[in-house]
Amino acid sequence: MAKSLQRPFLLLTVAAVLFSTVSFSNAIPFIVFHGIGDQCSGGVSNFTQLLSSVSGSPGSCLEIGNGEKDSWFMPLVQQASVACEKVKQMKELSQGYNIVAESQGNMVARGLIEFCDDAPPVVNYVSLGGPHAGIAAVPKCGDGPKCAIVEDILKLEIYNDFVQDHIAPSGYVKIPGEMTKYLEHSQYLPKLNNERPDERNSTFKDRFTSLHNLVLVMFQNDTTLIPKETSWFGYFTDEGFGTLLLTQQTKLYTEDWIGLKALDDVGKVKFVSVSGDHLMIGFQDVVKYVAPYLMQIS
Ligand SMILES: *[C@@H]1O[C@H](CO)[C@@H](O)[C@H](O)[C@H]1NC(C)=O
Ligand SMILES: *[C@@H]1O[C@H](CO)[C@@H](O)[C@H](O)[C@H]1NC(C)=O
Ligand SMILES: *[C@@H]1O[C@H](CO)[C@@H](O)[C@H](O)[C@H]1NC(C)=O
Repeated sequence: MAKSLQRPFLLLTVAAVLFSTVSFSNAIPFIVFHGIGDQCSGGVSNFTQLLSSVSGSPGSCLEIGNGEKDSWFMPLVQQASVACEKVKQMKELSQGYNIVAESQGNMVARGLIEFCDDAPPVVNYVSLGGPHAGIAAVPKCGDGPKCAIVEDILKLEIYNDFVQDHIAPSGYVKIPGEMTKYLEHSQYLPKLNNERPDERNSTFKDRFTSLHNLVLVMFQNDTTLIPKETSWFGYFTDEGFGTLLLTQQTKLYTEDWIGLKALDDVGKVKFVSVSGDHLMIGFQDVVKYVAPYLMQIS
C-alpha cells in the first residue's frame, strides 16, 4: 500500500538521461520536499534530477530527519522547523529559491514559507497533490512494523494530544462536522491556514503573499487525498461530507486568511489539473507545469 503514495519514477528515468547534459548558468536553485512514507533517495532523487535536467536549474531534495520514518512520526511543527534551519544553512539559497513539494511535503513547504523567521525568500512554489485544506482520512500506511505502530496509535481519536504529537498526518486531518475539536486540538493546519479567529497572524499571510507564483497541481484521479480538491484549497463545508466548496467559496479564500485570494487577484495562482492518480505526473505535464517555474534567472 505504501507504494500507492509514491510515484512512477521508472517512466521518468529515461527522460532524465536524455536531458542530462545541462550546465547551470545563473538560474536560481530549487528544493524538493517528498511525501509521506518516502525519502530523498531512490525515486525522489531521480525526480529531482529530472526536474534539474528539464529546467536547467540546480536542485536538491531536502530531507527531514531520517526520511521515511520521520515523515510518519515527526510532528509537522517540528518538520517545518527542521526545514527552516536547514534552508538558512544553505548558502546557495540565500538569494532566493523555488520549491517543488509532493503531497505531505507541501505541509512542510508551507510551514517553511509562513513560519520561518529570517529565511531566504521563496520565489515560485509548485505544489503537487498537496493536502492544503486538510484531508478527511489518514492515508493508508501499509505493512511492516512501522505501519503496525501507526495503526495502533490511530486507534485513538485523531484529535487526541498523543496522536497529534506522534503521527505527522494527524496535523492536517480535518474531519467535517468536528470543527470544534479540530480547532481546539489540531496542532498544525489551523495555524498554517490562519483558521482560528483569535490567532490569525498577518506575518504568515504577508510571507505567503510574497510568492511570485503559486502552482497548485491537482490529480484528477487522486484516490489518496480525500477530497482531491484540497490540492486547490477546496474542501467540505464545516458541517459534514455532504457539500464540497470550491476554492473561491471557502472562507479561507473569501476572507483571505493566508493571502491566497490576494495572490489569485493578481494572477499569481495557477490552478492546474492533470490526469492520473496521486503524484502520477507524466513527463509532458512536468515540462508544461513544473519546469517553467524553475527556470527563472537570478
Ligand atoms: C532511479 O534511477 C536509477 C538510475 O537510472 C534506476 O536504476 C532506479 O531504478 C531509479 N529508481 C526508481 C525508484 O525509479
Ligand atoms: C506572528 O508570527 C511572527 C513570526 O513567527 C511572530 O514573530 C509574531 O510574534 C506572531 N504574532 C503574533 C501576534 O502572535
Ligand atoms: C480516471 O478515472 C475515470 C473515472 O473514474 C476513468 O474513466 C479514467 O480512465 C481515469 N483516468 C486515468 C488517467 O486514470
